[in-house]
Amino acid sequence: MCGIVGYVGPRNAVEFLLEGLRRLEYRGYDSAGVATLTPQGELGVSKSVGRIAALSEQLECRPLSGSLGIGHTRWATHGPPTQSNAHPHLGGDREIAIVHNGVIENYQALKEDLEIEGYRFRSETDSEVIAHLIDRQLTELIASGNGTPREPAELAAEAVKRAVSRLHGTLGVAAVFRRFPGLLVAARRGSPLVIGVGDGEHFLASDASPLAGYTDKIVYLADHQIAVLTADRLKVTHRETGPIRHRVHTLDIDVQQVELGRYPHYMLKEICEQPQSLADTMRGRLNHEDATAVFGGLNLTPQQLRGIDRILLTACGTSWHAALVGEYLIEEMARLPVEVEYASELRYRNPPMDRSTLVFAITQSGETADTLAAMREMKRKGHPTLAVCNVVGSTAAQESDGGIYLHAGPEIGVASTKAYTSQCLVMALLGLYFGRMQHLSYDAGRRYIDGFRRLPELVEKSLQCQSEAQRIAEKYAHCQNFLYLGRQHNFPTALEGALKLKEISYIHAEGYPAAEMKHGPIALVDEHTPSVFLMPPGFIYDKVLSNVEEVKARGGPVIAIAAEGDRRVAELADDVLYTPAVPEYLQPFTTVVPLQLLAYYIAVQRGCDVDRPRNLAKSVTVE
Ligand code: G6P
Repeated sequence: MCGIVGYVGPRNAVEFLLEGLRRLEYRGYDSAGVATLTPQGELGVSKSVGRIAALSEQLECRPLSGSLGIGHTRWATHGPPTQSNAHPHLGGDREIAIVHNGVIENYQALKEDLEIEGYRFRSETDSEVIAHLIDRQLTELIASGNGTPREPAELAAEAVKRAVSRLHGTLGVAAVFRRFPGLLVAARRGSPLVIGVGDGEHFLASDASPLAGYTDKIVYLADHQIAVLTADRLKVTHRETGPIRHRVHTLDIDVQQVELGRYPHYMLKEICEQPQSLADTMRGRLNHEDATAVFGGLNLTPQQLRGIDRILLTACGTSWHAALVGEYLIEEMARLPVEVEYASELRYRNPPMDRSTLVFAITQSGETADTLAAMREMKRKGHPTLAVCNVVGSTAAQESDGGIYLHAGPEIGVASTKAYTSQCLVMALLGLYFGRMQHLSYDAGRRYIDGFRRLPELVEKSLQCQSEAQRIAEKYAHCQNFLYLGRQHNFPTALEGALKLKEISYIHAEGYPAAEMKHGPIALVDEHTPSVFLMPPGFIYDKVLSNVEEVKARGGPVIAIAAEGDRRVAELADDVLYTPAVPEYLQPFTTVVPLQLLAYYIAVQRGCDVDRPRNLAKSVTVE
């Protein structure tokens, strides 16, 4: 949802802005725009509805130059996706240009005040008030003369600070000023911003992916901080405490990770990257000697950890499915009760909990509004709250008491794939970790470790069903309804398979525990409704096989996800996708891969925009 980029330095700003916006496309958007301070000293703006490609063509016909600029991808909230509602917005008499991520809750009242004062609004957005408000604050500061800061950087930062203090809601804002060439101001409250530190140049973005290949030095802005960027200087101040010494981190994303390479879509690239991403998640986290897992950032003492007698996992979307996998794995390995809650529900619930409950917020982006709200609510109540997230420096990472990074690499496709399997792996490792603190034997710990170590190779084998998944997808792509059925460790996978299909192919799909079929879903079975059965080996196999019989008896097509060498299923099912035969605790990793591939190829067959599905955003930063 909404993306921000900014640049100040010797380059032609538009080149970085467009490339940066392309890299932010994955977040979901419906219009885009850029503004630069032109060599003539004017603020030039170019905006368009639709894809960055359209903006890029527009800029080819009517170029914008200048070495200071900002850009934005907008995901409409206040007002439809039109050119006038697209950002950047101009404030005053073309004095200021701003881009904004977030929602301004009191914009209506501010707008009325500003209109009375003579400010003319050109859009229906909440964001435009920010531009006029900064202009008003700046005009006041300049007019008040004595005692106020005179230096451009200070004036600009003070004007932004004063404007922001009048705004209610969330914001990540970048502003450039006609009268202050070579200076960009960024402010953050609840919506992420990062700064890339280059050699005689600075970059700004709402996440790190635009910076890859430009610089490997990154500063994560925290809430209530304001940054002033010039080509060779970065000054960060806190709303209350004044100037702060910012930490420069090393950015560990390289440019190949954010580019498609030989793949037609990011989703397929990320599905295929899973052997590597799982290896990366596992790296350094297995302790063979003690047969346990290692986590460096939990920030809890061994005593506190041993005192934990309950775990609460909270998340949204695909991450919530990873939490469900966690429930099965952690309970099995550690014998600790695990509860899974939708973050959107938890934030308004008041479940009875005591201090020995440990909360994990699971979020790929670390920016999902509901997950952050649930996390804050749990912290407020005094529970140790840890984040399991992928994006380094994200809000969840900053605000949690500690956490675990997935190290899955940037995930660009809106439908989560590699982050999901890495989240499941972290859940499994947590099971091992807490298990070894409680009753799990050394021997059992070693066996789990041996299994985890094989995961990259096992997932590589699961990927071998790619061409078969494509063939099956072509056969069923015309269907309007799908059922996904699995039991035990494969129940969350059924939910995830159904979600993947819905997200990218717009086919109605439902996931159910296979045994629940007879309590409703079986009524949907007919020759046009395929049922995807997850049936790897295990104590429940025969029962699932009976469910397959029931579907077949009603004329429903069956696609089975089964283990190599399973002949019984081949006799019953219409189509089979084979995965390696593994114990139950490894099945969530091997059986989800064919479902990801099936969803992908069905969406491609239907001509859907796989990486940018309609109405969805990679990171949902509003409630
Ligand atoms: C959005 C994305 C999903 C994701 C969910 C939670 O809906 O489209 O792919 O699973 O948000 O995101 P998070 O970043 O918190 O894991």
